[in-house]
Amino acid sequence: MTSPALATFTLHDGGGVPLVLLHGFPLDHRMWTACAQHLPPGVRAIGVDLPGAGHSDLDGYQPSIEHAADWVYRTMVAGGEGNAVVVGHSMGGYVALALAERHPGFVAGLGLVNTKSTADTEEARAKRLRIAAAVESEQTVAAVLGMPADLVGGTSTEHRRHLFPLLDSWIRAQSPAGVAWAQRAMATRPDRTAVLERFDGPVAVVVGTEDAIAPLTEAEHMVLAAGAPSTLAGGDAALTLVPRAGHLSVVEDPQAVAAALGLLHAQVAAHH
Ligand code: MLT
Repeated sequence: MTSPALATFTLHDGGGVPLVLLHGFPLDHRMWTACAQHLPPGVRAIGVDLPGAGHSDLDGYQPSIEHAADWVYRTMVAGGEGNAVVVGHSMGGYVALALAERHPGFVAGLGLVNTKSTADTEEARAKRLRIAAAVESEQTVAAVLGMPADLVGGTSTEHRRHLFPLLDSWIRAQSPAGVAWAQRAMATRPDRTAVLERFDGPVAVVVGTEDAIAPLTEAEHMVLAAGAPSTLAGGDAALTLVPRAGHLSVVEDPQAVAAALGLLHAQVAAHH
C-alpha cells in the first residue's frame, strides 16, 4: 500500500546526517521542541508525528510498530534523506528498534530514550487493549488524560508543576482513533533485544532516574545487549542517567537529553 508522507517538522537547523526524533505515547513531535533547541549548533533535527498522532493520518493501516517504522522510512527517503541518527522516546524507541531491524542501512546511530527493547507482559497487553476499546467507544481520549502523573517523575510532580497543563494540552489534541491504533500497535510488538545485539552503529541509551514506566533496569539491559560499557567513557554504546527526571526526561530536563544526543550525533558524524 502506498501512503502519504507522515508529518515532519524541522526542529533545529543544520546540515549533514539528521537526527530523526520519534515521540512517545500519547504525544506528538512537540515533546521534542525544547530538547531540540539545546542541540549543538549545526545538528539538524527532524521531528516526526507517528501514524495517527499530531498531524499524521492512519491511512487504513492495521496497527503495528512495523508499519510505523516502514512509514517513517518511506517518509524520510521521499524527503531525500539517505540515512539518519534515529532517536525514539518510549513508543518512538519501539519504532526506532523496528527501523534498525527492517532498514538497517538507514540507521546510522540509535538513540533510545526512556524506552525498552523487551515486549509487553500479558497484563500490560490486556491493559492496552482495554484503553483502545475505551477511547473508541467513548470517542474521547479521557482514558489517557491521567497519564501525566505517571509520565513525569516525583521531582517534576513537586517542582515542575507548569509541565502538567502543557502535557494535558498535548494529550487532549490527540485523536481517539490514533490513541487506539498506537495502543494496539505497541501490544503486538516483539522483544527486539537481538536487534541491539546485531546493530553495529553507535547507540545512546538515556533514562530518567525516576522513570517507573521504562526503568533503569530496562536501560541497562539495552546497553548490555548493544555490547558496551555502561558509562559515557567510550565504546559503541553509552548510558546517560538523567537525575531528577522520570519517563519524560526529554521534557523534564531537555538540556540533559540534548547533551547526550549531541554526543551521539558527533560519534556518527566522526564516522561519515
Ligand atoms: C510512551 O511513553 O510512549 C508509553 O509509555 C510507552 C508504553 O506505553 O509502553
